[in-house]
Amino acid sequence: MSELVWNAAYDSGVEEIDLQHRYFLALINRLSSELASCADANYRQRLLNELAKYAIFHFVSEENMMIKFAYPDADRHRMLHIELIDQLSSRMQAKTYAPLFVFLVDWFIQHTTTEDRLIGEFVRNHAATRELASDS
Ligand SMILES: [Fe+2]
Repeated sequence: MSELVWNAAYDSGVEEIDLQHRYFLALINRLSSELASCADANYRQRLLNELAKYAIFHFVSEENMMIKFAYPDADRHRMLHIELIDQLSSRMQAKTYAPLFVFLVDWFIQHTTTEDRLIGEFVRNHAATRELASDS
């Protein structure tokens, strides 16, 4: 897989989300290259666990932010996360990893540039409204 490079379009404008997305991207790049060249089945399994656990951590973190800011579309967004985790766990059973990473990269790009940007916009508007309220 060619390396996934950070693009300004992936920025949500919320530091916590963007930091996690940058790490997620780096993790995808590292694991895709390590898995392609690793002969140790036990270590490959551990790398896949690392990926799945980070995805779960990141989604819980994003979902907590949606709760904190009362994001109106949180339930639908959470369903998208659940679907991704389901997809990931079934694709992890495959014998070859390339399709898993093609899927993951497509999902990352599509999800960050659409769904997560909406959360970013909402949270930033919320913060701006609070600032205005505290100014008056
Ligand atoms: Fe998300």
